Amino acid sequence: MTDYTPSSSRIIPASQANAIALAVEKLALGQLVAFPTETVYGLGADAANPQAVQQIFAAKGRPAKHPLIVHIKHQTALTDWAEQIPDSAYRLAEQFWPGPLTLVLKKHARVPLEVTGGQATVALRMPNHPIALALLQHFDGGIAAPSANRYCRISPTQALHVEEELGDKLALILDGGTCHVGLESTILDLSSAQPTLLRPGHISTEALAQFLHTDILQPTHSSPQAPGMMAVHYAPRTPTYLCSQANLPATIEKYLALGQQLGLLAYHSVPARASVQLIAMPTTAEHYARALYASLRRADALQLTMILVEQPPRTANWQAINDRLDKATRLES
Ligand code: TXA
Ligand code: MG
Repeated sequence: MTDYTPSSSRIIPASQANAIALAVEKLALGQLVAFPTETVYGLGADAANPQAVQQIFAAKGRPAKHPLIVHIKHQTALTDWAEQIPDSAYRLAEQFWPGPLTLVLKKHARVPLEVTGGQATVALRMPNHPIALALLQHFDGGIAAPSANRYCRISPTQALHVEEELGDKLALILDGGTCHVGLESTILDLSSAQPTLLRPGHISTEALAQFLHTDILQPTHSSPQAPGMMAVHYAPRTPTYLCSQANLPATIEKYLALGQQLGLLAYHSVPARASVQLIAMPTTAEHYARALYASLRRADALQLTMILVEQPPRTANWQAINDRLDKATRLES
């Protein structure tokens, strides 16, 4: 559990006896509650209450057209939120839920347009986290929840990050420690003829294609992006650059010579220069993903003039990591 001072009274340990009941009470009143999931912390509101949902957009500073994910307690709730559900959705839910997979389906008439950003589709997922599931069970309704960060900023993987991002805009933050996966869910659009990947995540495109025995369309840069999928996202305030391993030593020398104060998220390399603030990253994709957002936050907090990120492998199991790094960084030329 996170170490925090009692003065930040919005954060309560999720293990506290009345924590879930308190959170349910706030949600029922139309207030915002942040809660842990296996991916990142969510900023939750009653998905059936348009006023409550509008507060999410206000708190994050998020454009109203960017749709939210509705979290549900079980796959049997799919029919409460979606219509014309293809068989593939039930099969995927059976296989991957609870888990970091979000399905985009045709929306049920009862889903407020505030949730879907005015679209005819809705994104649904059943998170794999005991606290999120306990909250959903007791609330007994859908919880709309984007990541609990300000618009385009780094997603929170600890309760304290949520406090830093949104603090007084929330009724309550349930502290469940560090999120296990560390990157947002895979999003698969099943609302049209062919399954389309909208966001890569821990559940890989290959795993989905193999399971469905079909190709998964991957959006190209020229195809229309899902609303809310911005080219710049998950970004530290400090200018952050992605740099290949080969170019790293020369790049470090170049910027030090220019008087830059450098931080480095290193995948392999250890710079010879002691003046570079080093954050060593794990070398497996699973552990790298878990550490990435907290490491970017740590580097940002050092208030340097530049953060360099050493490019990790570009192989399939690093797809979600590279997607986030490409959005969080500029390319070092
Ligand atoms: O892991 C996660 O998915 C986390 C946790 C809290 O569950 N949530 C999350 O939410 O990442 P958010 O709002 O940061 O990202 C959700 C993305 C939006 O950017 C949007 O592009 C997409 O989901 N989305 C939601 N509804 C959609 C829809 N109807 N059609 C297309 N894309 C949709
Ligand atoms: Mg987000």
